[in-house]
Amino acid sequence: MKIVIEDLFFSYPGGVEALAGVSLKIEPGELVAIVGQNGAGKTTLVRHLNGLLQPSRGMVFVGDWDTRQHTVAQLASRVGYVFQNPDDQLFCRTVKDEVRFGPLNLKYPSERIEELVNKSLGLTGLIGKENTNPYDLSPTWRKMVALASILAMDTPVVILDEPTTGQDAASISRIADIVAELQRDGKSVVTITHDIDFCAENFKRLIVMGKGIVLLDGPMHQILAQDEILKSTYVDPPQLARLGRGLGLPGIVCNQDELFDQLRRSEAQ
Ligand SMILES: Nc1ncnc2c1ncn2[C@@H]1O[C@H](COP(=O)(O)OP(=O)(O)OP(=O)(O)O)[C@@H](O)[C@H]1O
Ligand SMILES: [Mg+2]
Repeated sequence: MKIVIEDLFFSYPGGVEALAGVSLKIEPGELVAIVGQNGAGKTTLVRHLNGLLQPSRGMVFVGDWDTRQHTVAQLASRVGYVFQNPDDQLFCRTVKDEVRFGPLNLKYPSERIEELVNKSLGLTGLIGKENTNPYDLSPTWRKMVALASILAMDTPVVILDEPTTGQDAASISRIADIVAELQRDGKSVVTITHDIDFCAENFKRLIVMGKGIVLLDGPMHQILAQDEILKSTYVDPPQLARLGRGLGLPGIVCNQDELFDQLRRSEAQ
């Protein structure tokens, strides 16, 4: 489902202008990462996609819906938003109830609900923890419950706000697999993250925000090559890109396969 944001401005009631003219389009199936320093407006921007915030000026379309003409409840069928802090999202007594809540609320048929719940529990590694109270789980696993509860809603757009914060290597790799699975299903995934390594390895498009506007937007490799602007926004290049550069490799390296590929090529020369 296509997202179109046109000249979006947003000011918080206190008067802080958090967005100052953002325009962008996200195509179905795109994997988009948004980075930028604290206060850049990233969370404010994505909160417009599910109607939690409404534009002060400009427009936001999710598919053929203008978000101003639809409720948060309606938009929940199109945009799933995994909160940065799972404690802001979870409220049920068991993992299974939590994951079932979203699709139940969307009034999916019961067979489809069971299927989606089981698939989401499987993808997030929560099988065996269905009857546990989410608050008896570690923060790492609570984050997985929050993710599962959004996956189970089967929305065409999924937003992940800082998905890797506080996660160990195993769960970061699990989240990466889930992002790939969502793309295989034709869904768009938008992540906000300070984890540039996770971005580079798993996302194809990078948007850099600063002071309420989009500073850079394009294919991951192209944007990571813009050293000076990235430095001015305090975005460090990913470790693999730094390694590639240190080794004197010609192109920007985003993942292990690209590193090996470029090493082989440079050896062959
Ligand atoms: N509820 C609020 N009330 C007033 N001002 C707010 C509110 N939430 C955010 N702001 C302000 O709006 C601006 C953008 O904030 P936002 O949370 O969107 O940035 P961010 O890029 O997500 O930052 P971070 O990386 O710290 O999460 C900042 O100046 C912030 O202080
Ligand atoms: Mg934020």
